[in-house]
Amino acid sequence: MKCQIVSLDEVMDSSSLERSPTKADQLARNEVGRLTIQTRAPIVLDNHDRLPPLGRFVLVDDGVICGGGIVHGGVYTDRGAIKSKNIFWSEGKINAQARAVQHGHRGAVIWLTGLSGSGKSTIAQALERELFIRAMHPYVLDGDNIRHGLNSNLGFAPADRVENIRRVSEVAKLMADAGNVVITAFISPYRVDRQRARAIALEGNAEFIEVFVDAPLEVCEERDPKNLYKKARAGEIREFTGIDAPYEFPVDPEIVVRTDQQSIEESVASILERLLPRLK
Ligand code: ADX
Repeated sequence: MKCQIVSLDEVMDSSSLERSPTKADQLARNEVGRLTIQTRAPIVLDNHDRLPPLGRFVLVDDGVICGGGIVHGGVYTDRGAIKSKNIFWSEGKINAQARAVQHGHRGAVIWLTGLSGSGKSTIAQALERELFIRAMHPYVLDGDNIRHGLNSNLGFAPADRVENIRRVSEVAKLMADAGNVVITAFISPYRVDRQRARAIALEGNAEFIEVFVDAPLEVCEERDPKNLYKKARAGEIREFTGIDAPYEFPVDPEIVVRTDQQSIEESVASILERLLPRLK
């Protein structure tokens, strides 16, 4: 199974397993690290502490074994969270591969995250257009829009944001499974929710690409396209991301675009460059 190392999250001392204080960008021989690997298609795995035989792997590069590891951090569907009993999964006759052949590309989730005013919606729409004119099947799920419909019963308290992102992750997975290139534009301020969005997308046969739409808070506040930062500073809006609610910066997103330094066209071009080869 082809795979790719998405991020090196931590390097540890191989004897003590103590975390190394400096963050390296590669592992040296005999070093141990915690990393995220993305496979081209879903594979059956378990967390090592749950089922050791299904929780280990070897990495082969050009026919040579170059590493091995154990699996941890997998997200299991919490069966307790499914309220219904007596429900059965019904498997369709059309698989993702057949859909990809018909569509001319694989399904994918492009997850844009960043502060309000960072440019997520603008980039999402421009990217959607670029894919559309290439006869692909993109679709934008935008925070403000989804909160008008599917998530109209949710506000901005932490639990509501978690539920917002959970629902969007599931919708994005379904749409990607249907063969679309889904572009999501949500602040999605919590790291663990974005990790779960990735895990949910990868349950299907979908690529997941996290894009950090990065602009300093001062720049977003200066832009203030909806006048919301002013209201938040004046205390008229509570729990506003970046002001009195947290934003957890992505640690290792696949792509970072700096909208205070790059034009929209440049940002979209850098996303396309990384994205298009992964949709074949
Ligand atoms: S998320 O945090 O749950 O991911 P989401 O992307 O859906 O947020 O919605 C963010 C949009 O809602 C912002 O762009 C802004 O227009 C609006 N908004 C209104 N109140 C808030 C708030 N308290 N914090 C952040 N955004 C808010």
